Amino acid sequence: MQKKEYIQKMFASISRRYDYLNHTLSLGRDRSWRRFAVAKLPEGLILDVCSGTGDVAIEVSGRNHAVASDFCREMLQLCARKIQQTGNGNILCVQSDAENLCFKDGSFSGAIAAFGIRNVADIKKALCEMRRVVKKGGRVIVLEFSQPENRLFRRIYYLYFKKVLPLIGGVISKKEGAYSYLPSSVMTFPERGEFVKLMKESGMERIEFYDLTAGIVTVYVGIK
Ligand SMILES: C[S@@+](CC[C@H](N)C(=O)[O-])C[C@H]1O[C@@H](n2cnc3c(N)ncnc32)[C@H](O)[C@@H]1O
Repeated sequence: MQKKEYIQKMFASISRRYDYLNHTLSLGRDRSWRRFAVAKLPEGLILDVCSGTGDVAIEVSGRNHAVASDFCREMLQLCARKIQQTGNGNILCVQSDAENLCFKDGSFSGAIAAFGIRNVADIKKALCEMRRVVKKGGRVIVLEFSQPENRLFRRIYYLYFKKVLPLIGGVISKKEGAYSYLPSSVMTFPERGEFVKLMKESGMERIEFYDLTAGIVTVYVGIK
């Protein structure tokens, strides 16, 4: 099975437990991480790539219109349901592959991917697509897991991330593989410097990054 198909099926299989596990396993930190990343977006129409159940798009919709896009129908259906429940009319859901976005060049003021780009088979292709669909001067933002730099903290964190988290995630989602995939995908994800290089190679300028919660996650900001 190709990575793309594997990822699509995996997220479909954990979709109903995704939000609950997200909030529980991050000890509620995920909301503030998304809020920080969203605050870096400009005014105007925003594309949330790999939107999943839509938490970023919903956060954006407090002040801007947003399009939530993902290639997994089951995740997007939950996103649509959440939007309906909140009575939020500012968000449109569109099924689309991050590596081949179905939007015209320069359609958005900003594009953001939270905890999504790590799962994409060709990261550079997805970054180039995010850049393509934003206007000149627009922003591309990526929120992704990182490896903490402090050695002592990293040891404690890895114990939780590599041992405890897959166990709890596996039991609650009843999909053992999905939550072992999480730490392994983070370990193979490019380090900060490498990722900045990838963003540069994808055409972004003035790239900045911000470590949050002792470097568990990093927010990258690039300008087209
Ligand atoms: C870990 S979830 C993140 C969801 C959401 N952004 C959040 O902050 O919780 C990753 C999402 O990326 C989506 N995804 C992975 N690869 C993708 C691709 N190539 N194109 C579109 N969506 C993709 C998955 O379907 C899944 O919904």
